Amino acid sequence: MASTLTTPSMTSPYDRAAELKAFDDTKTGVKGLVDAGIKEIPRIFIHPPATIPKTSKPFKIPVIDLASPDRASTVEMIRVASQNLGFFQIVNHGIPVSVMDEVLQGVQRFHEQDVEVKKKFYTRDPLATVGYNSNFDLYSSAAADWRDSFFAFMAPSPPPPEELPEVCRDIQIEYSNQVMKLGGVLFRLISEALGLKPDHLIDMDCDKGLTFVGHCYPACPNPELAMGATKHTDFEFITVLLQDEIGGLQILHENQWIDVPPTPGALVINIGDLLQMMSNDKLKSVEHRVVANEKGPRVSAVCFFSTSRMPSTRLYGPIKELVSDDNPPRYRETTVHDYIQYSFSKGLDAGDHRLLHLKL
Ligand code: OGA
Ligand code: NI
Repeated sequence: MASTLTTPSMTSPYDRAAELKAFDDTKTGVKGLVDAGIKEIPRIFIHPPATIPKTSKPFKIPVIDLASPDRASTVEMIRVASQNLGFFQIVNHGIPVSVMDEVLQGVQRFHEQDVEVKKKFYTRDPLATVGYNSNFDLYSSAAADWRDSFFAFMAPSPPPPEELPEVCRDIQIEYSNQVMKLGGVLFRLISEALGLKPDHLIDMDCDKGLTFVGHCYPACPNPELAMGATKHTDFEFITVLLQDEIGGLQILHENQWIDVPPTPGALVINIGDLLQMMSNDKLKSVEHRVVANEKGPRVSAVCFFSTSRMPSTRLYGPIKELVSDDNPPRYRETTVHDYIQYSFSKGLDAGDHRLLHLKL
């Protein structure tokens, strides 16, 4: 199959749409290409040369200790990080290191399992609650990313366990349950960081929905031409991200890319578009990406708090307590479902900030 895809050194005519389809039809994703022994990435994966430099300065993403008895200073650190960087890391968050290690192993097992079993999960059905594919925006993006992704909507209504992949279902359920509990803690802290009462975001149902995504970034033969995950903001309220020790996650800060170094025991938290919008731009949904790497596979377990699968007509807009005559609402209201639908249709790299869609 890999032979139907052209590589940068080939001069044959290039029918991009046909090559995307040929790749999609394999149902084995990027890992399938690597397993087939390709030595060069196919042309569909070539990204335009980067224009934004990577910072040469050492830069630390704050690591916040959730077990600190000084709650006021924890809230303050979260406020500063969420306003300036849109990202922070947390330690002593209550999820045992063993569970973190095992969920990453579970993600790796999913991607490395028997191809015939894995293919059964391959889908682009927007209504699927469990599945896997390579590049949800394969047909709309300018360049495909060097990544395969497993997904499952775990809350508020988890799929029956037997619909989850056998090779990782137990740990995935366990990890998702723990992240749901952590969500309660985080949304209280973030509510306080916004100067709201602790339950404010929870009363708005921000902690009620969870999507689990297990990414696999196989080793890439031409990392300088490819991207693991192209630059994007996350769509939802907040993201709880667990990466392995390989690294490659970078965030955009003052027009430079900054590494988010793998930190043992830490989870990476970032603010999503919906929370930036609700905070009337006080908190930032910051662009980030994953560079491709010769080392691999890199795996990550990413949990998105979003209620897009809840049948809710609830409208979200800038929170009344956070707007005033001096700071009028900057966005129109939306349902979570509509905003996530819009985001999926735009693809991962929306060009401009995706929130401009809601700008008043
Ligand atoms: C994402 C994302 C980064 C990673 O899934 O939105 O940014 O490290 N993932 O996998
Ligand atoms: Ni992201």
